[in-house]
Amino acid sequence: MRFATKALRVAQTPEGTYRPVVPPLVQSTTYAWNNLDEIPEIDYTRCQNPNRKILEEVLASMENGLRCTLFSSGMAAISATFSLLQQGDHLILANDIYGGTFRLAEKYLPRQGVSFSSFDAQNPSSLEDVIQPNTKLLIFESPTNPTLRVPDIRAITEIAKKHGIITVFDNTFASPANQTPLDLGVDIVVHSTTKYISGHSDVVGGATITNNAEIGEWIYEWNKAIGANPSPFDCWLSIRGLRTLACRIDRHNQNAQAVAEFLATQPAVKRVHYPGLPDHPDHEVAKSQMRGFGGMVSFELETEAAARAVAESTRIFLLAESLGGVESLVAYPPLMSHATMTEEQRLERGIPPTMLRLSVGVEDIEDLLEDLQHALAQIPVQQAILR
Ligand SMILES: Cc1ncc(COP(=O)(O)O)c(C=O)c1O
Repeated sequence: MRFATKALRVAQTPEGTYRPVVPPLVQSTTYAWNNLDEIPEIDYTRCQNPNRKILEEVLASMENGLRCTLFSSGMAAISATFSLLQQGDHLILANDIYGGTFRLAEKYLPRQGVSFSSFDAQNPSSLEDVIQPNTKLLIFESPTNPTLRVPDIRAITEIAKKHGIITVFDNTFASPANQTPLDLGVDIVVHSTTKYISGHSDVVGGATITNNAEIGEWIYEWNKAIGANPSPFDCWLSIRGLRTLACRIDRHNQNAQAVAEFLATQPAVKRVHYPGLPDHPDHEVAKSQMRGFGGMVSFELETEAAARAVAESTRIFLLAESLGGVESLVAYPPLMSHATMTEEQRLERGIPPTMLRLSVGVEDIEDLLEDLQHALAQIPVQQAILR
């Protein structure tokens, strides 16, 4: 079965008296045993649930993985991969990893005796400089947030493998429609299913997917132990979203490419960050590992006042956190996703106060371009007011 078909047909054969085409929502927390000799496949919803099981099977197949475990959030999924670490182990993070992942490593892991280092994922050989004999796990992502750089996944996993390091890759920004990192050598894929997987900004969830049976079982058991399970209704909503992932992503990719090309022609725009632009520094790497360049576009204006003016002037792009839903959003990283960092830390990561991030949705492209054109036209007026 191919990608779009898997979303509709894996683990979704009509069953029961009425054979519903859409798997029904099963809210029950507990399941009746036939007798004491047979343990039911599903007995309690913290451990497993019919809606969760379907979503796990579909998502595993779409990522070309064997085993998926679902969580109540993306962060719960990421912290589950950190349960593979024990006292004395060392973790390596890409230096532009998602802020929540960094917070977990910086604030909580040292208390459990786990140390960490970061490396520049744009320069895979810099990984060798931070590997220690006790390095157990490496986590990175692509495209990165919000600078949309595209590290070479194969090159990084090759170095990690040579040193026996388990690789974790956050595939939230690309989704399996654009990139399947297990095929590129990664050991564990993680998702904030809150984003493209669910796709409608109405569920918070997370997932891990792996081809390593032992790791898959460990993570599943960890979830059972800590109880970070998703609710049946959230799984039902996520599968409803996942069924249209292939066509949503086609549209996100097309709209984002058109938005990036439009912004690149605008005199008020200083720089556009989108891996689908031929002059993007990682365009060739992106072409070699992605099927599409994704729905996220960042751009820089000349001044902070101009960035604020544009963020506050769009009408279709809503000023809001998060990404990956069908509706277009604009975000101002210094006050939103990267607010907990100092200005110096943001600048080190290439996030100036003049930058905006767009999650380009599936609306009519003409409306999106008109909206941006209108917002860019507000710059001089707004700047005068701010002054
Ligand atoms: C790349 C990435 N990974 C992980 C997360 C965390 O996911 P959640 O908010 O579902 O816990 C986010 C959230 O924005 C994200 O953007």
